[in-house]
Amino acid sequence: MTAIGDVTEKLNYLAQLVNDELEKFKKIEYTNVSGQKNVVDAMWYSLSAGGKRIRPVLVLEFCRICGGDYSSALSAACAIEMMHTFSLIHDDLPCVDNDDFRRGKPSCHKAYGEVNALLAGDALENRAFGIIAECGSLTDSQKVRLIKTLSDSTGVLGMIGGQVIDTECENDPVTEELLLEMYGMKTGALLSAACKMGCICGSGTEQQLKFADDYGKNLGLAFQIVDDILDVEGSAERFGKPIGSDAENGKTTFASLCGIENAKKYAFEFSERALSALEAFSDVDFLKELTMFLLRRDY
Ligand code: IPE
Ligand code: IPE
Ligand code: MG
Ligand code: MG
Ligand code: MG
Repeated sequence: MTAIGDVTEKLNYLAQLVNDELEKFKKIEYTNVSGQKNVVDAMWYSLSAGGKRIRPVLVLEFCRICGGDYSSALSAACAIEMMHTFSLIHDDLPCVDNDDFRRGKPSCHKAYGEVNALLAGDALENRAFGIIAECGSLTDSQKVRLIKTLSDSTGVLGMIGGQVIDTECENDPVTEELLLEMYGMKTGALLSAACKMGCICGSGTEQQLKFADDYGKNLGLAFQIVDDILDVEGSAERFGKPIGSDAENGKTTFASLCGIENAKKYAFEFSERALSALEAFSDVDFLKELTMFLLRRDY
């Protein structure tokens, strides 16, 4: 296996590919708008604010391990980052988590106002499907599968459905079973979609899609549990978002339900399961290291 230094190096390299491609979409966006400038500014403020770019990196890497080139997965990678950024903008709104900081900067609604933040989120969600549809390096059948995968993962049976459970359960007792279901939907679904979208771009087999799904789901559970832990014991500066937001909003998390030490054990266990799913692929050193890097992250 490679060392952590190599993981961050490759992560940065892939994130840069995504950022360069996003920059191209930004230029096109600004050429085409006039009166909608506030909303477009708000979209690109949040998209350009940083972020680890984990979902697009997974798209690129799963494409590669299925035999494709990074270049054929770049549009899908940008699309999922747009979708993810939309989810974060809406997640921070006063009527949802009411968080004033994101990616180390004032949240979208703090910088541009609630209406622009709401509409910027909507616009990013739409744009995500558009850039897949207009991608020149994928077949029509790949595009349809990508759009369906992204749509399913963000709809009421995916991310948005998870957000429904999350907000409806505020200040109520939540069982471990329901918490896992919620995490699988609000976080796991999009991470699993990222892996599957990579397989679709790389013309992977049905079997590969199944293992990619399994990897993404388990990574998603571990990822959300680590996020919950950092919301308790992280540094706001490093994390880029407020600490203590979950407790303030009366959210039950793995950290509050089972205690920090048990939550860490769960995160480890789900990461191990994610690693097992990678056994179905070859050339996965980076993905293995990334899985452990995300488990140990402090941001
Ligand atoms: C934050 O996701 C939302 C969760 C699912 C916990 P990330 O931790 O990937 O956020 P960015 O993209 O790096 O800002
Ligand atoms: C995941 O949960 C949010 C989304 C699905 C958008 P959180 O509410 O914990 O995410 P952060 O901590 O605000 O990034
Ligand atoms: Mg939330
Ligand atoms: Mg939140
Ligand atoms: Mg959180």
